[in-house]
Amino acid sequence: MQPKEKILEILKEKHGEFVSGEYLSETLGISRTMVWKHIGSLRDGGYIIESVTSQGYRLKEIPDRLLPAEVKQDLKTDFVGKEIYYFDEIKSTSVKAKELATDNPEGTVIIAEKQLEGKGRMGKGWYSPPGGIWFSMILKPRIPPDHVHRLTLVAGVAVAEVLSELGLNAEIKWPNDILINEKKVCGILTEMEAELDVVNYVIVGVGIDANIDLDMLPPITMMQTTSLREELGRDVDRIALVRGILERFERHYTAFLKGDFHSILKRWREHSSTIGRRVKIVAGLRTIEGEAVGIDHDGELIVELDDGTVEKEITGTCYHI
Ligand code: BTN
Repeated sequence: MQPKEKILEILKEKHGEFVSGEYLSETLGISRTMVWKHIGSLRDGGYIIESVTSQGYRLKEIPDRLLPAEVKQDLKTDFVGKEIYYFDEIKSTSVKAKELATDNPEGTVIIAEKQLEGKGRMGKGWYSPPGGIWFSMILKPRIPPDHVHRLTLVAGVAVAEVLSELGLNAEIKWPNDILINEKKVCGILTEMEAELDVVNYVIVGVGIDANIDLDMLPPITMMQTTSLREELGRDVDRIALVRGILERFERHYTAFLKGDFHSILKRWREHSSTIGRRVKIVAGLRTIEGEAVGIDHDGELIVELDDGTVEKEITGTCYHI
């Protein structure tokens, strides 16, 4: 642990009590000047730390930011989120994740408070103001490229389950939108870098409209979008939420890598808002309309067309009609 993180840990353990500079310097084996510098850097990061001569330092407030030290605290994972890159603002966490993918381990997470050029599916933009949760995970699964779409379902199930535990009726619209009362609250973007039969890495980007006022959103998306603040009538603890999603994702992802996609599909079906609905699916230049009757063992949506024929779709844009 870096001295700065250690200082933060000690201050937190004291629950607002003063800790002397002398104690910190002795415990960490660094000079009082260095202690003071680290305190300064924590303050720059948004921590409110009071200092009083002859008493020392005390932590008064933890910033409402998805700081790595906060997310990592008590994070119960083996590899997801062990390495976190944090940005106040960035073009896109998924673009950054691709830059970092080769030299960073599986499970590395990139988080930002705000994205300037957030990416949505199908080449669309993704509006990402402060207050939301915008992060991407670097994964290096040893699976064939044509199984990568399954990871979208794994991530969708993880998010839907964690949101449901907040008391929300979180449902999954195929393939990967999380809806609350038919309005989108979260989108997932899965991208990969692969050769013909080898996946080099996969980036799973998750965007959640958490503590966001709907009137902050562009008018075009406002009608079909909701936020956790809107649904709950209060703000959510974004740190706890990210932690919960990383933990749940790792659990399902690990099972998936061991070959258990079956239980993901079962969970996906339980949260699905698409199955049993009349849908229009636009996949490239093709559009089909019919009833979504299920999802097969491979994660493909099964659609029964009006003439009774059955089509399977691996990906596309789905409209509930
Ligand atoms: C969708 O179109 O539904 C997918 C949206 C995915 C948005 C997330 S936010 C974090 C990550 N970084 C991006 O630029 N996009 C994804």
